[in-house]
Amino acid sequence: MPQALLKDETPVYDLLGVGFGPANLALAIAVAEHNAATGDTVTAHFLERQESFGWHRGMLIEDATMQVSFLKDLVTLRNPASRFSFLSYLHERGRLIDFVNHKNLFPLRVEFHDYFEWAAAQVDDLVSYAHEVVAVRPVADGGAVGCFDVEAASGQVYRARNLVLATGLTPHLPDGVAPSARIWHNSQLLHRVDTVDTASRFVVVGAGQSAAEVTSFLHERFPAAEVCAVFSRFGYSPSDDSAFANRIFDPAAVDQFYFAPDDVKHRLMGYHANTNYSVVDIDLIDDLYRRLYREKVLGTQRLRVFNVSRAVAVSETADGVRVTVESQASSERTVLDADVVVYCTGYRPSDPVPLLGDLAPSCRRDEQGRPGIERDYRLRTTPAITGGIYLQGGGTEHTHGITSSLLSNNAVRSGEILRSILDRRPSGNDARTHARDHAFAR
Ligand code: FDA
Repeated sequence: MPQALLKDETPVYDLLGVGFGPANLALAIAVAEHNAATGDTVTAHFLERQESFGWHRGMLIEDATMQVSFLKDLVTLRNPASRFSFLSYLHERGRLIDFVNHKNLFPLRVEFHDYFEWAAAQVDDLVSYAHEVVAVRPVADGGAVGCFDVEAASGQVYRARNLVLATGLTPHLPDGVAPSARIWHNSQLLHRVDTVDTASRFVVVGAGQSAAEVTSFLHERFPAAEVCAVFSRFGYSPSDDSAFANRIFDPAAVDQFYFAPDDVKHRLMGYHANTNYSVVDIDLIDDLYRRLYREKVLGTQRLRVFNVSRAVAVSETADGVRVTVESQASSERTVLDADVVVYCTGYRPSDPVPLLGDLAPSCRRDEQGRPGIERDYRLRTTPAITGGIYLQGGGTEHTHGITSSLLSNNAVRSGEILRSILDRRPSGNDARTHARDHAFAR
């Protein structure tokens, strides 16, 4: 494979992060805390393609709440004394006592976004925004590849011994559906909704949390419009956030999942998919049902549900979009002329392999073609690759479990990745080792 040569004068970071969502933000904070506590500097930098920090901005619906306890913030489960906690943020914003009185574990999504921005601003020196990574290249050092060159779209190149890829999720549309001014994925909701002044009908496809939120939002925002919810389930199903099931998101569950045989992993994902996938908060389900019933009583039905149904065709017309809905029970077809159709059809983990270019063939895969990943989140590579390529996010769900694409394990996982990077450094002095053990004692 083509390789750059390692020249002595080239600065080499210990860690270069690709993407700066909550996953790599938590890692940046772990690095900053480690450096401050030990004086043992891990040199790190992060590259983010957005112009500034942003977490699912298109879905920051005003009254949407988090699906995770505020205690699973960027730091608390790794370091409960951290100054980067959600509680520190509340304190600084002057809302701590108000939040306590609220007796609520689940902040507003807009509030958590503000918390993320507040935390990101404090490690601003570690990140370059508007820097999309377009290529990763191996750097030759004798026979081994001990570090990597990372190229941003601007042409700027960064060199590092360890990469941490955390590029998040990519919105998914069904085959044959292309986004347009009237055909949206829900990730675009708030970016697009202001382009609609008046509307007589929306179609919302999907039955997960996002679909229910979008249905509720459009129903409120456009009081004269009909909102048609189309999904193949019989009804919206509640997410299981009961205490025992919720333990699937615990840090310890990652070990249990990682070391379990494949068939057990498969079964666990099946048993507990309803903690996260295609499910809705029960309060929102109740709220939507209340509205449906109220409209029935009043005889003004504008929230319509097409259950056991699929959107089988969508085409743009001169002044709108035509969606053909087919009942899977009766095969009856209904044509809905709408102003906009919103597909709430999920996300897929961003595939890191194309980014790795010539390095990709050196990454091992399992029998199903999925990336092999070590417990410390390092991609399994051929022995010649001695630098570390770590992966955070949904791409590790098959190895590390259902928590991978979520926020729940962010704090602990970032500590584990940093620990691995420290442990794999060429051996340092005893003081350094001691300081590290102290900082990350669990
Ligand atoms: P995330 O997608 O947040 O960040 C990845 C970053 O990488 C992005 O900023 C992107 O721009 C950047 N990037 C991608 N490619 C790049 C490249 N080539 N170069 C540079 N930068 C690049 N989970 C949970 O536990 N509780 C919750 O309440 C919610 N709520 C929620 C709401 C909504 C609307 C969605 C869509 C998802 C959630 N989630 C969630 C799940 C969600 O995946 C999770 O909250 C985090 O976004 C995961 O953080 P990451 O940093 O892994 O990805």
